Amino acid sequence: MTAERLRFALIGTGRIGRVHAANIAANARTELAIVADPALGSADEVAARFGGKPARDPLSAIAPESVDAVVIASPTPTHIELITACIDQGVPVLSEKPIDLDMSRIDALRPRVRRASSPVAIGFNQRFDPAIAEVQRRVTAGEVGALEQLSITSRDPSPPPASYIGVSGGIFRDMTIHDFDLARFFAGEIEEVTAVGSTLFDAGAREHDDFDSVVVTLKARSGSIVTITNSRHSAYGYDQRIEAFGAGGLLNVENAPASHVTSSNATCAAAKAPYVGQFLDRYADAYANELDAFVEWVHHGASSSPTFEDGRAAQVLAEAAHLSSRAGRTVRIDEID
Ligand SMILES: NC(=O)c1ccc[n+]([C@@H]2O[C@H](COP(=O)([O-])OP(=O)(O)OC[C@H]3O[C@@H](n4cnc5c(N)ncnc54)[C@H](O)[C@@H]3O)[C@@H](O)[C@H]2O)c1
Repeated sequence: MTAERLRFALIGTGRIGRVHAANIAANARTELAIVADPALGSADEVAARFGGKPARDPLSAIAPESVDAVVIASPTPTHIELITACIDQGVPVLSEKPIDLDMSRIDALRPRVRRASSPVAIGFNQRFDPAIAEVQRRVTAGEVGALEQLSITSRDPSPPPASYIGVSGGIFRDMTIHDFDLARFFAGEIEEVTAVGSTLFDAGAREHDDFDSVVVTLKARSGSIVTITNSRHSAYGYDQRIEAFGAGGLLNVENAPASHVTSSNATCAAAKAPYVGQFLDRYADAYANELDAFVEWVHHGASSSPTFEDGRAAQVLAEAAHLSSRAGRTVRIDEID
């Protein structure tokens, strides 16, 4: 790749697209060349704010003569077609997760990705959170000895709208997918999945036969045991914690406080504000670092970016969890993959 500053096409300018737009504009090694969204008003607004030419047709934005790389931040059902177009044009692509909700469509794309001459990265941004990345590095360096147990807690502040749940593919494919990727990031390949779900409070989840509360236990090939706890609500803010345990001790990623001010009065002592409100704030650094890693891959052919195979492997775990929770039994990965 030759350009000094990589010229990016951004496809999709919704919630996460705007985060990518801001990061591409702020990064000294990248610039926005094209901002594509069928909602032209949104593309116009983002282009005016962060640079690039607005466009309505996403496929026309994937043009190697005008762009060096593409970020896909459009709705999940569009990812496969856009990734395919990037591969066909030899343009490096960072696609938002998940690759798709349908495993057979992911598998149909797999041989093409294997033969691709250009990078295909998947946006598992949490790997790039400074605290998570540090704990993973220290675990890999052996600080707690062999990893015996990993606990991942992820609770959203409040459930998404029912209409979103209806198209999300369910909690495992939509929300737990990030934790499945982290499980592999820390513990390596997973052999067994046991998932339990319940619908305790969310009418949207009930309407769409989904869960709002799940616990998943994974057994890695190494023998490490991973526990994932998810809830679609949390009264005290966005709850994102990791605990890595081994014979040598414990490493923790704690929640980020929204403020360092504490308050004491007649009813509490040294009370803190709730944790940061949502993923865009909690993982702001992670999204910027994710872009940096992708740029490294484009420039130097090697990086820490999650690959298409990582995206697929997390999806396999989501399918296994779905089956396990519905069938009420442990699912071995080799049963379904
Ligand atoms: N990594 C993360 O933390 C994270 C967070 C949120 C969303 N996501 C993923 O990002 C994707 C987008 O989610 P969002 O919350 O930003 O959605 P959104 O609905 O806020 O935005 C989607 C945008 O894409 C546009 N769009 C619709 N059809 C399109 C098409 N065919 N081509 C191009 N653009 C199109 C829409 O007009 C809209 O502006 C989803 O796949 C989602 O799973 C990832």
